[in-house]
Amino acid sequence: MSAESVYLTTPIYYVNDKPHIGHAYTTVLADVLARGARLFGRDTWFLTGTDEHGQKVQEAAQKLGVEPQAHVDETVQRFLEAWERLEIQYDDFIRTTEPRHKVIVQEILQDLYDRGEIYRDEYDGWYCVADERFFTDKDLEEGRCPLCSREVQRVREANYFFKMSRYQDWLVEYIREHPEFIQPDFRRNETLGFLRKPLQDLCISRPKSRLTWGIELPFDADYVIYVWFDALVNYISAVGYRRDEAAFAKRWPAIHLIGKDILTTHTVYWPCMLKALGVPMPKTVFAHGWWLSGTTKMSKSLGNVVNPMDMMERYGVDAFRYFLMAEMVMGQDATFTENAFIRRYNADLANDLGNLLNRVLSMVGKYCGGRLPAPAPDAWEEGAPAELKARLLEAVEVFKESLDTFTLHAGVARVMEAVRATNRFIELQQPWSQARAADPAPLHSTLYAAAEALRVCAGLLMPLMPAKMTELRLALGMENPMTVKPEDLLKMNVLKPGAEVGQPGALFPRIEAPVPGAEATPTPPAAAPAAKPEAPKPGTIGHPEGVITYEDFEKVQLRTAKVMSAEAVEGTVKLLKLNVLMGDERRQLVAGIALYYKPEELIGKTVVVVSNLVPIKLRGVESQGMLLAASKGERLRLVTVDGDLSSGAVVK
Ligand code: ME8
Ligand code: MG
Repeated sequence: MSAESVYLTTPIYYVNDKPHIGHAYTTVLADVLARGARLFGRDTWFLTGTDEHGQKVQEAAQKLGVEPQAHVDETVQRFLEAWERLEIQYDDFIRTTEPRHKVIVQEILQDLYDRGEIYRDEYDGWYCVADERFFTDKDLEEGRCPLCSREVQRVREANYFFKMSRYQDWLVEYIREHPEFIQPDFRRNETLGFLRKPLQDLCISRPKSRLTWGIELPFDADYVIYVWFDALVNYISAVGYRRDEAAFAKRWPAIHLIGKDILTTHTVYWPCMLKALGVPMPKTVFAHGWWLSGTTKMSKSLGNVVNPMDMMERYGVDAFRYFLMAEMVMGQDATFTENAFIRRYNADLANDLGNLLNRVLSMVGKYCGGRLPAPAPDAWEEGAPAELKARLLEAVEVFKESLDTFTLHAGVARVMEAVRATNRFIELQQPWSQARAADPAPLHSTLYAAAEALRVCAGLLMPLMPAKMTELRLALGMENPMTVKPEDLLKMNVLKPGAEVGQPGALFPRIEAPVPGAEATPTPPAAAPAAKPEAPKPGTIGHPEGVITYEDFEKVQLRTAKVMSAEAVEGTVKLLKLNVLMGDERRQLVAGIALYYKPEELIGKTVVVVSNLVPIKLRGVESQGMLLAASKGERLRLVTVDGDLSSGAVVK
């Protein structure tokens, strides 16, 4: 993608399918690469569409008793809707039933026929309806289709053939001399392996006696064109081939993003067709791996069975896009499970990125009245800020490069590293300690630097998560949060000091992972009995030792409280001193939670407090109550209230 203009395509999907994670992956990938290219100032064109001819469509329409065109007009909606939902910003959507496409296919056929590239002959072989492909005896695997293992039909008929075999030697040499043409490397070797066998001429016609739903051959009305010959032409018919030479020259050659299932059609048939037409080769055919969600991996007993498209509805489009891009090493297979999704979401988005934003917003709120502070003039010059800046510049370079080299997953990983580096920067600078110093400059420089780091990281992640990153940049007080200027990614001090920042909130609320086998654990009744049972006498059956009576329980008063401020108790590692609001009463609490919570994470939380405990002093600091927390092993989490409720509420 280093050339000035970029033309990206996805396969045009069979319109009879329902869009699923596989289609979503290629399309989101193309969208992210296109948005990335645009972000870095390149003239970009992104084409997707649907493949609407062929036997499967004809059969489906017949079954429904509708015209094929009416059928595809309806089913194409599913793709249009899915892409809208997934925030896909394509420049053009081509359907092979559109006149603008059909006319070009026919012109191409006539041209090739006139020049002797297409001839008529008797065909005798095997045909797979599902794949719409012909096979020789040798191609079959155990008598079945080598691609889908379905039954094949014996077919014997007169047909038209494209003289593909004559391009074999040329193609092998072209592939060898252009390493960027087929990527990744191992796919190039796969195609070269395929080309070690003699290349056959390609049967490109279907007699109308068998198939009518296709583009008619201009030189023989008894035939329609083979669906793959039709489909591949979309990549040029959509951008002005034979109609607008200037437009075509501007867009072509394309970068074709495809799945590994259609490598041969794109790296053998298509280059030979283009060669015969005298059109330059595509720049790159990149074949990605397979999303697996196989029956073995996704077992019901693990609570893992999941339709990935439902995950998008449940956890948000941006998170779904992020997961697809971050999880799949480009070119390799990947497995989709709900647990993998939740793990990555919680680690990358809820913890690292969401938490960083909240830390920055709550500290700017607390220490700077909610307005972005100004950095010292030399704020970035040395030490931790200089290091942070270097990390950010590196992330920009690596991310930008990853768009060109089909290593997007690695580019994204580097941005997330920069996010984590920013979290470490905050821990190192300790703005909560800097806030106690007389000179506010160090505190201001720290908070400003962290906000700048967020601006840059969110700018880079914008192609993946356009809505969420806009929200994030808006929270940083940016005036045009959606517009990422590439030059701004490479410099600091872009955010305007004095700008009002947003409130901390949940950009990516944490997902509580479904625990395998959790449904087997009986849940205790949620509500307490309505009537108060009589207090049983001690020692009676049903009242074993350690069990308390209602009277005992009612002695403990629990109330909700809102944390207004928090800081470490000096000279301790475990204690935090909190100021809480309980209704209209203020309390000071000391809690041993410093290893589990940063002070600023607590601000604004509604916690549960034992409010009628006699005050005690911990390390000389008075605690007027006790916080409730749950702990197990190494972990401790505060008990909080589910949803909005003003402080001071009674907990029972
Ligand atoms: O082949 N994992 O259309 P198609 C990853 N119409 N990607 C997947 C996938 C999976 N499990 N399943 C599908 C056709 N894909 C032709 C293309 S192009 C001129 C004509 C994606 O609907 C992947 O991009 O079967 C794959 O190549 C494509 O969907 C196949 O879509
Ligand atoms: Mg397919």
